[in-house]
Amino acid sequence: MSIALTQDRILLRDQARELAQGQISARAAEVDRTEEYPWDHVEAMKNSGFLGMTIPQAYGGKGKDWLDAVLVIEEMAKACSIAGRIAVETNMGAVSAIMAYGSEEQKKLAADMVLSGDKPAICITEPDAGSDASGMTTRADKRGNQYVLNGKKHWITGGGVSRLHLIFAKVFDEQGNFEGVGGFLAIRDETEGLEIVKREPTMGLRGIPEAEVAFNDMELPPSSLIVPPRGLKKGFADLMTAYNSQRVGAGTVALGIMEGAYELALDWTEKREQFGRPINEFQGVQWRLADMSIRIAAAQALIYKAAESGKGGFPDKIMAAQAKIYTSENAIQVVNEALQLFGARGYSRNLPLERMARDVRMFTIGGGTAEVLRNVVASGLLGKKLPQTRDGYLPKSQAAE
Ligand code: FAD
Ligand code: COA
Repeated sequence: MSIALTQDRILLRDQARELAQGQISARAAEVDRTEEYPWDHVEAMKNSGFLGMTIPQAYGGKGKDWLDAVLVIEEMAKACSIAGRIAVETNMGAVSAIMAYGSEEQKKLAADMVLSGDKPAICITEPDAGSDASGMTTRADKRGNQYVLNGKKHWITGGGVSRLHLIFAKVFDEQGNFEGVGGFLAIRDETEGLEIVKREPTMGLRGIPEAEVAFNDMELPPSSLIVPPRGLKKGFADLMTAYNSQRVGAGTVALGIMEGAYELALDWTEKREQFGRPINEFQGVQWRLADMSIRIAAAQALIYKAAESGKGGFPDKIMAAQAKIYTSENAIQVVNEALQLFGARGYSRNLPLERMARDVRMFTIGGGTAEVLRNVVASGLLGKKLPQTRDGYLPKSQAAE
C-alpha cells in the first residue's frame, strides 16, 4: 500500500468492509437484475455514517477527507458497484462543489438532503456537448429577479431518483451578454420545469438510472445560483476543480470492482482442479494472478495519492486524471482476466464476473473519457493549453512556417 493508513482509517475501512460484505454484497446481483435503485443500501450506508461523510461537521457531516471516502467507496464497490457509486455521489461531485462554493443556505440545503439519503445529480453532459463540455447550450437568462433555464442534459446518473440537481448552465445577463458558466440548484418534484425525459438502457451499472433531463422555462431565483469565488467568468474552471474529486471517486469504484474480481479469482484458482491439481499450480495462471495484483497495487497507489493531493481543497487535476485513466483501463483488464480464470462459469449469470465485466466497462467513459483525460495530463506536463477546437489549431500553411 502506498500510504500507511492510520488506526482510525483502518477502523473505518473495516467498518465499511463489514457492511459491504454483509447485506450490500447479498443484494448486488438482485440490484443488477431488477435494475431498481437500492434504497436499502442507501439506508444502510446512511445508518453507518457513510453518506455525506465529507460534509463539514458544522453542517452535520463528519468532515472526513477524500482518502477516508475513498476507503469506504473501495469496500462498497468490491461488493456492489452501485453502492460504490452512491458513496461517490454523496461525498464528492455535486455535494463537494456546493460545500466549497455555496452560500450558507445552499450548504444547509444540500447537507440536509444528502444526510437524509438523497444522492444529488450533477448535470453537465448534453447530447451535443460531451467531452466538449464547454460547448454546452443549456442557458440561464436573467429576467427581472429570476433566471430562466432552458436546455437538455443526458446520461445524468440518478435522474428520476435524485432530488437535488446541480446544473451547469451558461449564464446571460438581461441584455443577453454571456457572463460565464454557473451551477444552479434545482429540486425534482419541487422546481417547476425540471423534467426527467427518459431512462437510458445501459450495459451495466443497472441499479442506478441514467436519464435525460430537460429544463423547460425553469424559473430559479438568484439564490439558487452557485457563483464560485473567482466569479462566473472562471465559474466553469472552478466547478471542474470540484469535479476532480468525482474523478478520483469514479476511479475508486473501478479499483473496488477489480479487487473484488481478483479476490474471487484467487479463491477459485485454489479450489478448481484440472489435470489432478489446483489450476493455480500452472505457471500460466500464477503469472496471470501476479500481473493482476501488480495492476491493482499500482492503481491503488495512484488513487490514494490523488485523494491525498486534495487535503484541505480538491484533488490535483493531473493526479486525478492519471489515477482515473490508469485505474479504469486496468480494471477492465483485471476483471476480464478474472472472468477467464473461471472458464465457462465466468460467462454465467450465476456468478458475479459477467456483471462486474459489464459494470467496469463504464469507467473509461463517464466522468471524462480516458482520451480526454490524457489531454488534461498532457496539457499539465507540457505546461501548454491544448485547445481541441478547430480554431485552436494553426492552419497547415502557417504551421509549416
Ligand atoms: P464524445 O465526447 O462524443 O466522445 C466520443 C469519443 O471521441 C470518445 O472515445 C472520446 O474519448 C473521443 N474524443 C472526443 N473528444 C476527443 C479529443 N479532444 N481527443 C481525443 N479523443 C476525443 N454526465 C453528466 O453530466 N452527469 C452524469 O451524472 C453522468 N453520468 C454518466 C454515467 C454513465 C454510466 C455514463 C456512460 C456517462 C455519464 N455521463 C454523465 C456522461 C459522460 O461524462 C460523457 O459520456 C463523457 O464525458 C463523454 O462524452 P460523450 O459520451 O458525448 O462522448
Ligand atoms: N480541474 C481544474 N480546472 C479545470 C479542469 C479540471 N479538471 N478542467 C478544465 N479546467 C479549467 C482549465 O484550466 C481552464 O481554466 P482557465 O480558463 O483558467 O485556463 C478552464 O477550465 C477551461 O478548460 P479548457 O481545457 O481550456 O477548456 P475546454 O473548453 O477545452 O474544455 C474540458 C475541455 C474541460 C471540457 C475537457 O477537458 C473535459 O474535462 N471534458 C470532459 C467533461 C467531463 O468530465 N464531463 C463529466 C460529466 S459527469
